[in-house]
Amino acid sequence: MPLPLAVLVSGGGSNLQSILDKIAAGALDAEVRVVLSNKPGALGLERARKSGIPAVALPHADFASRAAFDAEMVRVINAHGVAAGTGAVALAGFMRMLTPEFLHAFPGRVLNIHPALLPSFPGVHGAADAASYGVRLAGCSVHFVDEIMDHGPVIIQAAAPALPGEGAEALAARILKLEHCVYPQALHWLAEGRLSVEGRHVRVSGAAPAACGSAALPFLASPGLDTAFLPT
Ligand code: GRF
Repeated sequence: MPLPLAVLVSGGGSNLQSILDKIAAGALDAEVRVVLSNKPGALGLERARKSGIPAVALPHADFASRAAFDAEMVRVINAHGVAAGTGAVALAGFMRMLTPEFLHAFPGRVLNIHPALLPSFPGVHGAADAASYGVRLAGCSVHFVDEIMDHGPVIIQAAAPALPGEGAEALAARILKLEHCVYPQALHWLAEGRLSVEGRHVRVSGAAPAACGSAALPFLASPGLDTAFLPT
């Protein structure tokens, strides 16, 4: 059975789109059952609708508390057939902290993508913070979500050089391209049952140690990306 997936978005949803594209291409054996957003105008919801996927807006300000908002999200996700153990939740630019209650509803099955090499530059402006710090290597991380922001065990990271004279926006755009490779890849490993976690360490069975990019898109990913998830 394809991995039942709920995707949470707050914005453009380009990572959601990369997941949908890899599913459509047959590379990722998952099914996005529902897309939720705390922002009714999020382009990510529109992308879901275009693909015939239920898109649910839950404006967080309509709820009396964070706990009530998260409880409703869990209810909606479960109602769309994404359950603890078999399903998973992918945060794709979802700009809200989740409560422990939400995480307990999907133990070990909530993933996030962050546009920096964690533990450097956590927070909402990861890519911009890295650029203005003047890093020579930027990148992105996919990790399991725990109760601390941008903190859980790391599944895959891709590092890319900050090029001389490149502005923060251009760097962030290159990092986003890498995000679109590593996030579907991590979900593929999850779907295939190839991830195991011991403390902070994630083991990915059968993955190559690393993969390199090209002169056009230089990067180093660890673990390596399967061919189907390399940038095109
Ligand atoms: C991405 O950079 C992601 O890493 C971060 O938020 C951004 C979302 O972009 N968490 P999009 O909505 O997927 O285009």
